[in-house]
Amino acid sequence: MDGSASLSRAVPEDVLRPTLRDEPAPDVFSKAYEFRRADEVRALGLYPYFVPIEASDATEVTVEGRRLVMVGSNNYLGLNHDPRVIAAAQEAMSKYGSACTGSRFLNGNTDLHDRLEVELARLTGKPAALVFPTGFQTNLGVISALVGRNDTVFIDKLDHASIVDGCFLSPGETVRFRHGDLDDLDAKLARVPSRGKIVAVDGVFSMEGDIVDLPRVVEICERHGSRLLVDDAHSVGVLGATGAGTAEHFGITSKVDLIVGTFSKAFASIGGFVAGERSVIQYLKHHARPLIFSASMPPSACAAVLACIEILRAEPERREQLWAHGRRMRDELKGLGFDVGGAEAPIVPVIIGGDLQTFAFWKRLFDEGVYTNPVISPAVPEHSARIRTSYIATHTNEQLDFVLEVFHKVGKEMGVI
Ligand SMILES: Cc1ncc(COP(=O)(O)O)c(C=O)c1O
Repeated sequence: MDGSASLSRAVPEDVLRPTLRDEPAPDVFSKAYEFRRADEVRALGLYPYFVPIEASDATEVTVEGRRLVMVGSNNYLGLNHDPRVIAAAQEAMSKYGSACTGSRFLNGNTDLHDRLEVELARLTGKPAALVFPTGFQTNLGVISALVGRNDTVFIDKLDHASIVDGCFLSPGETVRFRHGDLDDLDAKLARVPSRGKIVAVDGVFSMEGDIVDLPRVVEICERHGSRLLVDDAHSVGVLGATGAGTAEHFGITSKVDLIVGTFSKAFASIGGFVAGERSVIQYLKHHARPLIFSASMPPSACAAVLACIEILRAEPERREQLWAHGRRMRDELKGLGFDVGGAEAPIVPVIIGGDLQTFAFWKRLFDEGVYTNPVISPAVPEHSARIRTSYIATHTNEQLDFVLEVFHKVGKEMGVI
Protein backbone atom coordinates (compact mmCIF):
# COMPACT_ATOMS: atom_id res chain seq x y z
CA MET A 1 0.00 0.00 0.00
CA ASP A 2 1.44 3.41 -0.91
CA GLY A 3 1.46 6.45 1.35
CA SER A 4 -1.39 8.32 -0.36
CA ALA A 5 -3.76 5.36 0.00
CA SER A 6 -3.25 5.22 3.75
CA LEU A 7 -3.52 9.05 3.97
CA SER A 8 -6.85 9.12 2.14
CA ARG A 9 -8.26 6.70 4.70
CA ALA A 10 -7.12 8.82 7.63
CA VAL A 11 -8.25 12.23 6.30
CA PRO A 12 -11.91 13.14 5.58
CA GLU A 13 -12.69 13.09 1.81
CA ASP A 14 -13.45 16.79 1.39
CA VAL A 15 -10.07 17.76 2.84
CA LEU A 16 -8.34 16.12 -0.10
CA ARG A 17 -10.67 17.60 -2.72
CA PRO A 18 -8.98 20.52 -4.56
CA THR A 19 -10.45 23.87 -3.58
CA LEU A 20 -12.37 25.79 -6.26
CA ARG A 21 -11.89 29.09 -4.49
CA ASP A 22 -9.16 31.35 -5.67
CA GLU A 23 -7.61 31.77 -2.24
CA PRO A 24 -4.00 31.10 -1.40
CA ALA A 25 -3.66 28.04 0.78
CA PRO A 26 -2.93 28.91 4.41
CA ASP A 27 0.65 28.49 5.61
CA VAL A 28 1.01 26.27 8.68
CA PHE A 29 3.75 28.65 9.84
CA SER A 30 1.41 31.69 9.80
CA LYS A 31 0.55 31.26 13.48
CA ALA A 32 4.25 31.41 14.32
CA TYR A 33 4.79 34.51 12.15
CA GLU A 34 1.83 36.19 13.88
CA PHE A 35 2.95 35.26 17.41
CA ARG A 36 4.05 38.50 19.08
CA ARG A 37 3.31 38.01 22.76
CA ALA A 38 6.80 36.96 23.84
CA ASP A 39 8.44 39.91 22.03
CA GLU A 40 5.91 42.34 23.50
CA VAL A 41 6.69 41.16 27.03
CA ARG A 42 10.44 41.23 26.23
CA ALA A 43 10.11 44.83 25.03
CA LEU A 44 8.64 45.71 28.43
CA GLY A 45 11.69 44.13 30.07
CA LEU A 46 9.45 41.59 31.82
CA TYR A 47 10.10 38.35 29.91
CA PRO A 48 10.47 35.68 32.62
CA TYR A 49 11.09 32.42 30.75
CA PHE A 50 14.17 30.41 29.74
CA VAL A 51 16.32 32.22 32.29
CA PRO A 52 19.91 30.91 31.81
CA ILE A 53 21.15 29.66 35.18
CA GLU A 54 24.95 29.75 35.22
CA ALA A 55 25.55 27.83 38.44
CA SER A 56 23.53 26.33 41.25
CA ASP A 57 23.95 24.84 44.68
CA ALA A 58 20.27 23.87 45.01
CA THR A 59 19.01 26.65 47.30
CA GLU A 60 20.83 29.42 45.43
CA VAL A 61 21.47 29.98 41.73
CA THR A 62 23.67 32.35 39.76
CA VAL A 63 22.17 34.36 36.91
CA GLU A 64 24.23 37.01 35.10
CA GLY A 65 26.80 36.74 37.88
CA ARG A 66 24.22 37.49 40.61
CA ARG A 67 23.22 35.03 43.36
CA LEU A 68 19.49 34.51 43.89
CA VAL A 69 17.68 32.47 46.51
CA MET A 70 15.86 29.71 44.61
CA VAL A 71 12.20 29.30 45.58
CA GLY A 72 11.13 28.22 42.10
CA SER A 73 12.39 24.65 41.79
CA ASN A 74 10.85 21.25 42.46
CA ASN A 75 14.00 20.06 44.18
CA TYR A 76 11.98 19.28 47.33
CA LEU A 77 14.57 17.22 49.22
CA GLY A 78 17.55 19.27 48.04
CA LEU A 79 19.22 16.18 46.59
CA ASN A 80 20.39 17.38 43.18
CA HIS A 81 23.73 18.48 44.67
CA ASP A 82 24.03 15.72 47.25
CA PRO A 83 27.52 14.17 46.88
CA ARG A 84 26.07 10.63 47.23
CA VAL A 85 23.65 11.22 44.36
CA ILE A 86 26.32 12.75 42.16
CA ALA A 87 28.78 9.92 42.92
CA ALA A 88 26.17 7.28 42.06
CA ALA A 89 25.38 9.01 38.76
CA GLN A 90 29.08 9.38 37.89
CA GLU A 91 29.80 5.75 38.64
CA ALA A 92 26.89 4.63 36.44
CA MET A 93 28.01 6.91 33.65
CA SER A 94 31.48 5.40 33.71
CA LYS A 95 30.12 1.86 33.75
CA TYR A 96 27.26 2.11 31.21
CA GLY A 97 28.18 5.21 29.19
CA SER A 98 26.36 8.50 28.84
CA ALA A 99 23.14 7.09 27.35
CA CYS A 100 21.40 3.90 26.26
CA THR A 101 20.81 5.13 22.69
CA GLY A 102 17.64 3.13 22.37
CA SER A 103 14.29 2.13 23.77
CA ARG A 104 14.09 -0.19 26.77
CA PHE A 105 12.04 -2.49 24.57
CA LEU A 106 14.99 -3.35 22.32
CA ASN A 107 18.43 -2.21 23.43
CA GLY A 108 18.04 0.45 26.13
CA ASN A 109 17.36 -1.60 29.25
CA THR A 110 19.95 -2.14 31.98
CA ASP A 111 19.99 -3.96 35.29
CA LEU A 112 19.75 -0.48 36.87
CA HIS A 113 16.37 0.15 35.20
CA ASP A 114 15.16 -3.23 36.48
CA ARG A 115 16.50 -2.58 39.98
CA LEU A 116 14.87 0.82 40.04
CA GLU A 117 11.50 -0.76 39.24
CA VAL A 118 11.89 -3.18 42.14
CA GLU A 119 12.70 -0.30 44.50
CA LEU A 120 9.77 1.78 43.25
CA ALA A 121 7.34 -1.10 43.75
CA ARG A 122 8.71 -1.43 47.28
CA LEU A 123 8.46 2.30 47.95
CA THR A 124 4.89 2.68 46.67
CA GLY A 125 3.65 -0.61 48.17
CA LYS A 126 2.55 -1.94 44.77
CA PRO A 127 3.38 -5.33 43.22
CA ALA A 128 5.19 -3.89 40.19
CA ALA A 129 6.46 -0.69 38.59
CA LEU A 130 7.53 0.48 35.15
CA VAL A 131 10.04 3.23 34.42
CA PHE A 132 9.52 5.70 31.51
CA PRO A 133 11.85 8.33 29.97
CA THR A 134 9.90 11.19 31.66
CA GLY A 135 6.88 11.72 33.89
CA PHE A 136 5.09 13.43 31.00
CA GLN A 137 5.59 10.37 28.82
CA THR A 138 4.37 8.14 31.65
CA ASN A 139 0.96 9.80 31.67
CA LEU A 140 0.82 9.85 27.87
CA GLY A 141 1.70 6.17 27.69
CA VAL A 142 -0.45 4.88 30.53
CA ILE A 143 -3.64 6.76 29.65
CA SER A 144 -3.44 6.22 25.89
CA ALA A 145 -2.73 2.50 26.33
CA LEU A 146 -5.50 1.88 28.86
CA VAL A 147 -8.36 4.12 27.76
CA GLY A 148 -9.87 2.37 24.75
CA ARG A 149 -12.77 3.25 22.46
CA ASN A 150 -15.37 2.01 24.96
CA ASP A 151 -13.84 3.69 27.98
CA THR A 152 -14.17 7.09 29.64
CA VAL A 153 -11.47 8.90 31.58
CA PHE A 154 -12.54 11.47 34.20
CA ILE A 155 -10.04 14.23 34.95
CA ASP A 156 -9.89 17.21 37.29
CA LYS A 157 -9.85 20.50 35.32
CA LEU A 158 -6.52 21.42 36.92
CA ASP A 159 -4.81 18.07 36.29
CA HIS A 160 -1.35 18.31 34.79
CA ALA A 161 -0.98 18.85 31.02
CA SER A 162 0.47 15.35 30.59
CA ILE A 163 -2.81 13.82 31.82
CA VAL A 164 -4.76 16.08 29.48
CA ASP A 165 -2.53 15.14 26.53
CA GLY A 166 -2.75 11.44 27.45
CA CYS A 167 -6.52 11.83 27.10
CA PHE A 168 -6.11 13.51 23.68
CA LEU A 169 -4.07 10.51 22.54
CA SER A 170 -6.59 7.94 23.69
CA PRO A 171 -9.51 6.83 21.50
CA GLY A 172 -11.90 6.92 24.48
CA GLU A 173 -14.02 9.73 25.84
CA THR A 174 -12.73 12.37 28.29
CA VAL A 175 -14.93 14.03 30.92
CA ARG A 176 -13.57 16.93 32.98
CA PHE A 177 -14.90 17.81 36.42
CA ARG A 178 -14.47 21.11 38.30
CA HIS A 179 -11.27 21.35 40.32
CA GLY A 180 -11.68 19.57 43.65
CA ASP A 181 -15.47 19.35 43.16
CA LEU A 182 -16.05 15.70 43.94
CA ASP A 183 -19.85 16.07 43.79
CA ASP A 184 -19.32 17.05 40.17
CA LEU A 185 -17.14 13.93 39.65
CA ASP A 186 -19.78 11.75 41.34
CA ALA A 187 -22.57 13.14 39.14
CA LYS A 188 -20.53 12.78 35.96
CA LEU A 189 -19.56 9.17 36.75
CA ALA A 190 -23.23 8.36 37.32
CA ARG A 191 -24.05 9.53 33.78
CA VAL A 192 -21.88 6.93 32.01
CA PRO A 193 -22.77 3.60 33.63
CA SER A 194 -21.96 1.17 30.84
CA ARG A 195 -18.43 2.12 29.85
CA GLY A 196 -15.02 1.24 31.27
CA LYS A 197 -14.05 4.07 33.62
CA ILE A 198 -10.90 5.50 35.12
CA VAL A 199 -10.47 8.64 37.20
CA ALA A 200 -7.11 10.42 36.91
CA VAL A 201 -6.19 13.06 39.49
CA ASP A 202 -3.08 14.84 40.67
CA GLY A 203 -2.15 13.93 44.26
CA VAL A 204 -0.79 17.42 44.89
CA PHE A 205 -1.83 20.05 42.34
CA SER A 206 1.34 21.64 41.06
CA MET A 207 0.16 25.24 40.71
CA GLU A 208 -2.19 25.31 43.70
CA GLY A 209 -0.34 23.28 46.32
CA ASP A 210 -3.57 21.61 47.47
CA ILE A 211 -3.87 17.87 48.18
CA VAL A 212 -6.63 15.83 46.55
CA ASP A 213 -9.30 14.45 48.91
CA LEU A 214 -8.24 10.93 48.00
CA PRO A 215 -10.42 8.98 50.49
CA ARG A 216 -13.51 10.58 48.96
CA VAL A 217 -12.25 9.97 45.40
CA VAL A 218 -11.69 6.31 46.30
CA GLU A 219 -15.20 6.01 47.77
CA ILE A 220 -16.73 7.55 44.63
CA CYS A 221 -14.67 5.32 42.32
CA GLU A 222 -15.68 2.20 44.24
CA ARG A 223 -19.36 3.13 44.09
CA HIS A 224 -19.20 3.63 40.31
CA GLY A 225 -16.87 0.72 39.51
CA SER A 226 -14.13 3.06 38.27
CA ARG A 227 -10.37 2.53 38.28
CA LEU A 228 -8.22 5.24 39.83
CA LEU A 229 -4.88 6.75 38.76
CA VAL A 230 -3.10 9.26 41.01
CA ASP A 231 -0.32 11.42 39.58
CA ASP A 232 2.08 11.80 42.49
CA ALA A 233 4.68 13.92 40.69
CA HIS A 234 4.71 16.40 43.59
CA SER A 235 4.02 13.84 46.31
CA VAL A 236 6.56 11.01 46.00
CA GLY A 237 9.39 11.76 48.34
CA VAL A 238 7.25 14.48 49.91
CA LEU A 239 3.97 13.08 51.27
CA GLY A 240 3.27 10.02 53.44
CA ALA A 241 5.00 8.37 56.40
CA THR A 242 7.84 7.05 54.22
CA GLY A 243 7.50 9.51 51.33
CA ALA A 244 5.51 7.05 49.22
CA GLY A 245 2.98 9.69 48.20
CA THR A 246 -0.67 10.63 48.53
CA ALA A 247 -2.12 7.13 48.96
CA GLU A 248 0.28 6.42 51.83
CA HIS A 249 -0.50 9.83 53.37
CA PHE A 250 -4.17 8.79 53.62
CA GLY A 251 -3.40 5.11 54.43
CA ILE A 252 -5.25 3.80 51.36
CA THR A 253 -2.52 2.44 49.11
CA SER A 254 -4.41 -0.75 48.25
CA LYS A 255 -7.39 1.31 47.03
CA VAL A 256 -5.43 3.24 44.40
CA ASP A 257 -4.98 1.23 41.19
CA LEU A 258 -2.12 3.16 39.62
CA ILE A 259 0.43 5.55 41.10
CA VAL A 260 2.32 7.69 38.59
CA GLY A 261 5.43 9.60 39.58
CA THR A 262 8.34 11.56 38.22
CA PHE A 263 12.05 11.67 39.02
CA SER A 264 12.35 15.31 37.97
CA LYS A 265 11.37 16.70 41.36
CA ALA A 266 12.14 15.15 44.79
CA PHE A 267 14.29 12.49 43.10
CA ALA A 268 16.62 15.05 41.54
CA SER A 269 16.91 13.30 38.18
CA ILE A 270 14.86 12.76 35.03
CA GLY A 271 12.36 10.02 34.20
CA GLY A 272 8.98 8.78 35.38
CA PHE A 273 7.20 5.66 36.56
CA VAL A 274 3.88 3.96 37.06
CA ALA A 275 3.24 1.41 39.83
CA GLY A 276 0.33 -1.00 40.04
CA GLU A 277 -0.70 -4.60 39.68
CA ARG A 278 1.60 -6.93 37.81
CA SER A 279 -0.67 -7.74 34.87
CA VAL A 280 -1.38 -4.06 34.15
CA ILE A 281 2.33 -3.24 34.27
CA GLN A 282 3.02 -6.17 31.95
CA TYR A 283 0.36 -4.87 29.52
CA LEU A 284 1.76 -1.34 29.62
CA LYS A 285 5.26 -2.67 28.97
CA HIS A 286 4.01 -3.94 25.62
CA HIS A 287 1.52 -1.21 24.67
CA ALA A 288 2.69 2.17 26.02
CA ARG A 289 4.04 3.89 22.91
CA PRO A 290 6.18 6.56 24.64
CA LEU A 291 8.00 3.70 26.36
CA ILE A 292 8.42 1.53 23.28
CA PHE A 293 9.25 4.24 20.74
CA SER A 294 11.47 6.54 22.81
CA ALA A 295 14.95 6.07 24.25
CA SER A 296 15.19 5.01 27.89
CA MET A 297 16.37 7.02 30.90
CA PRO A 298 20.16 7.30 30.97
CA PRO A 299 21.65 4.79 33.47
CA SER A 300 23.21 7.72 35.39
CA ALA A 301 19.69 9.08 35.94
CA CYS A 302 18.53 5.65 37.24
CA ALA A 303 21.49 5.51 39.62
CA ALA A 304 20.72 9.02 40.89
CA VAL A 305 17.12 8.00 41.68
CA LEU A 306 18.27 4.82 43.43
CA ALA A 307 20.58 6.92 45.61
CA CYS A 308 17.74 9.37 46.34
CA ILE A 309 15.43 6.53 47.44
CA GLU A 310 18.10 5.29 49.83
CA ILE A 311 18.54 8.78 51.29
CA LEU A 312 14.76 9.21 51.54
CA ARG A 313 14.63 6.07 53.71
CA ALA A 314 17.66 6.95 55.83
CA GLU A 315 16.89 10.64 56.40
CA PRO A 316 13.19 11.21 57.12
CA GLU A 317 14.17 14.52 58.73
CA ARG A 318 14.54 15.99 55.24
CA ARG A 319 10.82 15.56 54.64
CA GLU A 320 10.00 17.01 58.06
CA GLN A 321 12.17 20.04 57.35
CA LEU A 322 10.55 20.51 53.94
CA TRP A 323 7.07 20.52 55.48
CA ALA A 324 8.16 22.88 58.27
CA HIS A 325 9.48 25.32 55.63
CA GLY A 326 6.29 24.98 53.55
CA ARG A 327 4.02 25.62 56.53
CA ARG A 328 6.10 28.56 57.70
CA MET A 329 6.11 30.24 54.28
CA ARG A 330 2.40 29.68 53.71
CA ASP A 331 1.50 31.13 57.11
CA GLU A 332 3.89 34.06 56.92
CA LEU A 333 3.03 35.02 53.33
CA LYS A 334 -0.64 34.84 54.27
CA GLY A 335 0.10 36.87 57.42
CA LEU A 336 1.70 39.57 55.25
CA GLY A 337 -1.61 39.84 53.40
CA PHE A 338 -0.93 37.76 50.25
CA ASP A 339 -3.57 35.47 48.74
CA VAL A 340 -2.02 31.98 48.89
CA GLY A 341 -5.16 30.12 47.77
CA GLY A 342 -5.65 26.70 49.36
CA ALA A 343 -1.97 25.76 49.63
CA GLU A 344 -1.30 22.72 51.81
CA ALA A 345 1.90 21.19 50.39
CA PRO A 346 5.35 22.87 50.26
CA ILE A 347 4.14 24.68 47.12
CA VAL A 348 2.80 28.12 47.99
CA PRO A 349 1.25 30.22 45.22
CA VAL A 350 0.99 33.97 45.64
CA ILE A 351 -1.99 34.96 43.53
CA ILE A 352 -1.59 38.31 41.78
CA GLY A 353 -4.34 38.28 39.10
CA GLY A 354 -3.32 39.79 35.74
CA ASP A 355 -0.54 38.40 33.54
CA LEU A 356 1.45 41.61 33.14
CA GLN A 357 1.12 42.53 36.79
CA THR A 358 2.41 39.04 37.65
CA PHE A 359 5.38 39.41 35.28
CA ALA A 360 6.16 42.82 36.83
CA PHE A 361 5.96 41.32 40.32
CA TRP A 362 8.21 38.44 39.26
CA LYS A 363 10.75 40.90 37.82
CA ARG A 364 10.92 42.94 41.03
CA LEU A 365 11.47 39.77 43.07
CA PHE A 366 14.14 38.68 40.60
CA ASP A 367 15.91 42.06 40.77
CA GLU A 368 15.84 41.87 44.56
CA GLY A 369 17.48 38.42 44.51
CA VAL A 370 14.58 35.94 44.72
CA TYR A 371 14.02 33.36 41.94
CA THR A 372 10.34 32.39 41.55
CA ASN A 373 8.07 31.11 38.77
CA PRO A 374 5.37 33.34 37.25
CA VAL A 375 2.44 31.20 36.09
CA ILE A 376 -0.32 32.44 33.80
CA SER A 377 -3.30 30.94 31.95
CA PRO A 378 -3.73 28.26 30.61
CA ALA A 379 -1.52 26.67 33.29
CA VAL A 380 -3.86 28.28 35.85
CA PRO A 381 -7.41 29.67 35.45
CA GLU A 382 -7.65 33.10 33.78
CA HIS A 383 -7.28 36.17 36.02
CA SER A 384 -5.52 34.12 38.69
CA ALA A 385 -1.95 34.48 37.42
CA ARG A 386 0.46 33.88 40.24
CA ILE A 387 3.96 33.65 41.56
CA ARG A 388 4.57 29.99 42.34
CA THR A 389 6.96 29.41 45.20
CA SER A 390 8.16 26.00 46.35
CA TYR A 391 10.54 24.98 49.06
CA ILE A 392 13.58 22.82 49.57
CA ALA A 393 14.41 20.83 52.71
CA THR A 394 17.88 22.38 52.71
CA HIS A 395 16.78 26.03 52.62
CA THR A 396 18.12 27.83 55.67
CA ASN A 397 15.85 29.93 57.86
CA GLU A 398 17.99 32.95 56.93
CA GLN A 399 17.28 32.36 53.23
CA LEU A 400 13.56 32.15 53.94
CA ASP A 401 13.68 35.31 56.12
CA PHE A 402 15.24 37.07 53.14
CA VAL A 403 12.51 35.78 50.77
CA LEU A 404 9.78 37.02 53.13
CA GLU A 405 11.46 40.42 53.45
CA VAL A 406 11.61 40.80 49.68
CA PHE A 407 7.99 39.70 49.22
CA HIS A 408 6.92 42.21 51.86
CA LYS A 409 8.86 45.04 50.20
CA VAL A 410 7.66 44.26 46.66
CA GLY A 411 4.09 43.52 47.77
CA LYS A 412 3.84 46.97 49.43
CA GLU A 413 5.57 48.73 46.55
CA MET A 414 3.18 47.21 43.98
CA GLY A 415 0.03 47.59 46.06
CA VAL A 416 -0.60 43.84 46.26
CA ILE A 417 -0.73 43.90 50.08
C1 LIG B 1 1.62 16.71 38.13
C2 LIG B 1 2.72 16.46 37.13
N1 LIG B 1 2.68 15.33 36.40
C3 LIG B 1 3.64 15.06 35.50
C4 LIG B 1 4.70 15.92 35.28
C5 LIG B 1 5.73 15.59 34.24
O1 LIG B 1 6.90 15.18 34.83
P1 LIG B 1 8.31 15.19 34.04
O2 LIG B 1 8.98 16.47 34.39
O3 LIG B 1 9.02 13.99 34.59
O4 LIG B 1 8.01 15.06 32.60
C6 LIG B 1 4.77 17.09 36.03
C7 LIG B 1 5.91 18.02 35.80
O5 LIG B 1 5.81 19.20 35.89
C8 LIG B 1 3.76 17.37 36.97
O6 LIG B 1 3.80 18.50 37.68
